[in-house]
Parts: sequence; structure tokens; C-alpha cells
Amino acid sequence: MLDKFPFLLHGGDYNPDQWRHIPGTLDQDFRLFPLAGINSVSVGIFSWAALEPEEGRYDFGWLDEVMDRCADAGMAVVLATPSGAKPNWMAQKYPEIRRQNPHGWCTEPVQELQAGRHNHCLTSPIYRAKVAEMDRRLAERYGKHPALALWHISNEFGGECHCPLCMQAFRDWLRAKYKTLDEMNHAWWTGFWSHAFSDWSQIVTIDTTIEGLQLDWHRFVSDSTASFLKNEADALKSVAPEVPVTTNFMGFYEPLDYNRLAKHVDVTCWDCYPAYHDRPDQEGTAAHFALAHDLCRSFKKQPFLMMESSPGPTNWMRTNRLLRPGLHRLKSLQAVAHGSDSVQYFQIRKGRGGAEKFHGAVIDHVGDESPRMFREVAQVGRDLKALQGVLGSATPAEVALVHDWENRWALRNSQGPSEVAKDVIGTGLVSNYIPYWKRGVPVDVISPADALDGYKVVIAPICYLVQDGFAEKAEAFVRDGGTFIATFLSGVVDKNVLVYQGGFPGPFRKLFGIWAEEIDYLYPEERNESAFAQGNALGLSGKCELKDICEVVHLEGAEALGVYRRDFYVGSPTATLNRVGKGQAIYIAAHGGHDWYDALHDALISRLGLRRALEADLPEGVTATLRVADDGTAYTFVENFANEPREVDLGAAPRKDLLSGWTLSGKVPLQPYGVLALRG
Ligand code: GLA
Ligand code: ZN
Repeated sequence: MLDKFPFLLHGGDYNPDQWRHIPGTLDQDFRLFPLAGINSVSVGIFSWAALEPEEGRYDFGWLDEVMDRCADAGMAVVLATPSGAKPNWMAQKYPEIRRQNPHGWCTEPVQELQAGRHNHCLTSPIYRAKVAEMDRRLAERYGKHPALALWHISNEFGGECHCPLCMQAFRDWLRAKYKTLDEMNHAWWTGFWSHAFSDWSQIVTIDTTIEGLQLDWHRFVSDSTASFLKNEADALKSVAPEVPVTTNFMGFYEPLDYNRLAKHVDVTCWDCYPAYHDRPDQEGTAAHFALAHDLCRSFKKQPFLMMESSPGPTNWMRTNRLLRPGLHRLKSLQAVAHGSDSVQYFQIRKGRGGAEKFHGAVIDHVGDESPRMFREVAQVGRDLKALQGVLGSATPAEVALVHDWENRWALRNSQGPSEVAKDVIGTGLVSNYIPYWKRGVPVDVISPADALDGYKVVIAPICYLVQDGFAEKAEAFVRDGGTFIATFLSGVVDKNVLVYQGGFPGPFRKLFGIWAEEIDYLYPEERNESAFAQGNALGLSGKCELKDICEVVHLEGAEALGVYRRDFYVGSPTATLNRVGKGQAIYIAAHGGHDWYDALHDALISRLGLRRALEADLPEGVTATLRVADDGTAYTFVENFANEPREVDLGAAPRKDLLSGWTLSGKVPLQPYGVLALRG
């Protein structure tokens, strides 16, 4: 991926721009880097004022020194463009570059002050030109520098601007999309509340009562962010075409469709801040972050980078708890286990001032190698050296979860039907992911536009909005022998958020062989129950508790896997299976706890013989993941997220644990927060 640097990156955000006038700091840092096993730094992220203190006056001296020192030390530099924070002189001279926020409904936008960061307009031609100019200069100066590994474009793109330039750009975007106002009025269902537009200039950026407008605004913001990113990538590549580019994502960050951004980068990466705080929900947290790693890897189906994580507590959580000994290593290697080729931190050195002076760092205020966290970082440095063979290896997933930002926006903007159902990530993805996480089955997280070939199971939880062609693709997948699964509240609206006529789940109705008539949303304390049907196709028996969402469906060719045990819809199906062609389509009509999803998915894991990282059952809190190198070498990671010892059965064949150096087989103990990385 980063050809010049054949090692797993270990480093992170480094801010010599803040320390450049303090003698001795660089010497101290470069003494500590090898002690911590730091082999890379990300530099320049918010350094515009240091690089160009006044318009047209540049100061690259400090950066030259850092780049050269890194080259001398054999370190890789992830060099950032500074567009995430514009300098004061620029905001003062060109007010159009300042972001404008909408303040309330039906009021004029208010211009943001020049404060904080991530505060620029996405459209402003002046800002785009300034950014491109800076990027070209960086590329001219450092494009061939021996330390340069990767461009880090801006930082955590996010937010939106409602200035007149953005408003006009939105109107132009709509015009290009719909061609005529009639088309747009129809798509937005503007007959409702007399919302019809008779001129493009009437369109505003926010009207929460026009769902089509809101959805298009989200699409527009993602597109304009992607085009801002592309503007930067083009500037860098025009000078240094051979250097790869990335930009750091934030997991499932709702406001931006990362699929649109991922097209413009060579490598995907993300910033990962789990709250592993030794609490009862540790397993849920672990699964949630595992899923986010899988998402980042799946954008390009290639290894990704964990670009930031905290070597210690953050300073922004409600409770910034210390990381228990061993947890830093576990969460770092969790990323590698899911396909990351790096463990990068925010931050390398804690500042003396500024908003992040109490955020975890490799080099703490004490300034030397004595802190506990420094030693834990150094341990990860040694681990990554031992794991070199993992570099570039792939994750062989036979299961895919379908995730679509537009689906989430559509539900978020909708008035109703229920907050639990709107939580596509928690209620939909995580619930259906945990059974695979517990069994050590690798999973990809794909978009509805992706190909389904090569998967055995594709799960589209809460597929409320159906993209054009997706239902047909799902059907072809099933006919070819695949297992396609959707849940309650699927097939409800089309890509314009217009409700399907003719019965739910809309375009999936034939495939699932059911009609979903209505949905009962339960009060938090209410429960129903599913009894598995006698002799059902998955061989399930017993019963499971249901909660929150009970959809009432009728069979139209499918068979019931289970039925409700209570309420007026007693006896109607809770889950169904329809055989189509060589495959099957399974509809999960009700929401439940872990045992509900475990039952359904476990049956599939064993019946379909899905590939698992380890054959034996894993104890509570333990997962296993797999990476496979080009030459076929398999790497199996076993991770214990419980703060208690566990025992795992590794099977009869002896394999080397690359972390301890021991050769292991059979039943072995796992330390609290322990990790194994087995080769072979
Ligand atoms: C984000 C940002 C960093 C820093 C960290 C703190 O990920 O990219 O600049 O603010 O959060 O956790
Ligand atoms: Zn703007």
C-alpha cells in the first residue's frame, strides 16, 4: 500500500508546529521515538498559520527539518494538507471563506466567527484556490522527499455550510439532477402543505418537513465535500502523482456518505476512539468498533489504516477513564486484526496549551519515557514488529452487511416511526453482526451499489430505503444460491423517500414471499416472544424474547421459522424463509435480544459451513478474526475483551503465537485483555 515503507505504521499526529520555538523539543522527541517503537508521524494537520504566516510569505523551514530528521531515522511521514483550519489573516481578508450556520428555522444564515477549526465554506472558490495553491507547494517541496509515505488530506471532514454560495451550488446541483421543477416537485411530494416550487430560487437549504429536500441536501453536502477533497487530491497529484492520498474518516459518522469520499482516495483510514472502560457493555463496545473497522476496510476491500486512536484517556468523553493495563494493546491489535496496517495515535506529544492538552499522548507532560502509557505504547511497537507478515494481508469475508448512508438519512429525517427502528447502526447492523463476532466469522460492510458475488450471506438490516436495482440484485444473488436477509421496516420507500404502493416490503415482496402489513412498536418494558415453528427449515427449537418492534407479516409462499406467542397477532410469523432458485431469502420481522439474533445466525453459520477464524466455540467476551496473506499464510487473532482470564481451544495443529513467540495448540489460557496472533 505504501510501497516505500514495508512495515506496519506505528505513530500518529505530531505537532512540531506548536513546539518549533522551544529549543530541544525535536531532540527529545527523536530520542523517544525509537524507544516507543514509533516509525511514522503525521505532520502539518492544522499548521497553515505556521506554513504561511502572512499571505504569500511561506515558512517551510521547520517542516524541512522534521522531514529530514524522519528520513534520517528511517521513519515514514504522513504529510497533511492544512485545510482543516484556516489562518486568521485569510478569514479576515476573505470573509466569504467562513462557514455559515443556519440558526433556527426560517431565519437568515448567520456567519460563523473565525474560531475553532473545520470552519470553512465547502464551495468558496477563493478557499478552494488557496488550498490548491498550498497543496501544490507542499507537493513541489516534499513530493519526492524520501520520508514521504502518504498525503493526509485535511482532517475529519464534517459539517455543512449554508452561505449564499452553498445555497446557489445546491440549487445548481438540484437543477442538474432533476432538469425540471416538475420532476423535483414530484420527487419531493410538494403537493403536501402547498410546498410546490415554481422557481429554483425559492429553494432553501433546510426544510425539515420536505424529506426529499433534506435527503438531497445530505447528498449535496457529501458531494461537495467529496469535490473539495478531490480538489485537494488533484492539486497534490498534479505535482506528485505517485504519492497515495487519504483522508481520515470517523467510522459511521452520519452526516457524510463516505462511499462518495472513498472514491477520491487511494487508502482509507479512520479515527477510532472506543470507550473501553471496563464496564458490563464491553462486549457490545468491542463489536461496535470491530464493525467500524470492517466498514473502513470494506470501502476498498483492502487493508486500511487506523489513523488515530488514543494512547491513554481522551479529554472529551463524559468520563475519561484510564485505560486498564493491557487494554491499549488489545484495542490497538483489534484494529490490525480487522485489517488495519497501522496503529496511529492522536497524539504524539501533549501540548502545553490549547484544547487538547489533557488528551492522551505518547509523550506526556513529564517529557520522557517513564509513564506507564509510554511503556504500553512501546509494547505495541514491539508487537507490530513481530506482526510484519500481516502487512497487506486480506480479510476473507463470506458474509456482508449492507449499510447505506442514504437509508439512515431517510429514517433520520422521517417523522416516525420509532427511535429504536431509526437506529440503523445499533438496532440493525450491530444486532445482526454480534453473532458473527462471537463466532469469529469475518464480515464485510458493503454499500447497496457493491457487487454481492463471492458472499454466501448478505444481510440488509432495516433496509427502509431501497436503491434502484438493489432488490433485483438481491434476487439474482439468491437465485444463484445466496442467502439474503432483511429485517422489519424494509422495502418501505424508494430513493426519493416516496412510499412503495402495493404492500411492503415493496420491491422485496416476491423475494421474501411475504406481505408485511403493519408494525407494532412496543413500550420499552413490553415484551413478546417467538416460538420456533415445528420442523422449521433452520432446525431451530425453543423460544426467544422479543422487544421494541413486532412486524405483522403474512406468508405468501415463504415458511414461518417462528411465530408470536402473544397479543392479537399471536401465531403470525416472527421470521420467515423463502426458497428461491438455489438460495433462500430470510426475513426477520421482529427485534429481540442477543439470543434471538444468535439463534437465527448461528443456524446459518453451521448449516452453510461459514468460514470461522477458529473452529471451537469462543467463551464470552472473546472473538477471533482472520487475515490471509497473498501466499496463503493465515493469521488468526484471538482477542479477550473481558477483564478476566478465559480459555480457548486452538485446535490440534501447533501454531506460533507471533506476540509471545510460543508455539500453541489445544486449550490455552488467555489473560484478561489478552491477545494471540497465530500464524499458520
Ligand atoms: C479527532 C481529531 C484530532 C483530535 C482528536 C481528539 O479525531 O482528528 O485532531 O481532535 O479527535 O480525540
Ligand atoms: Zn458556503
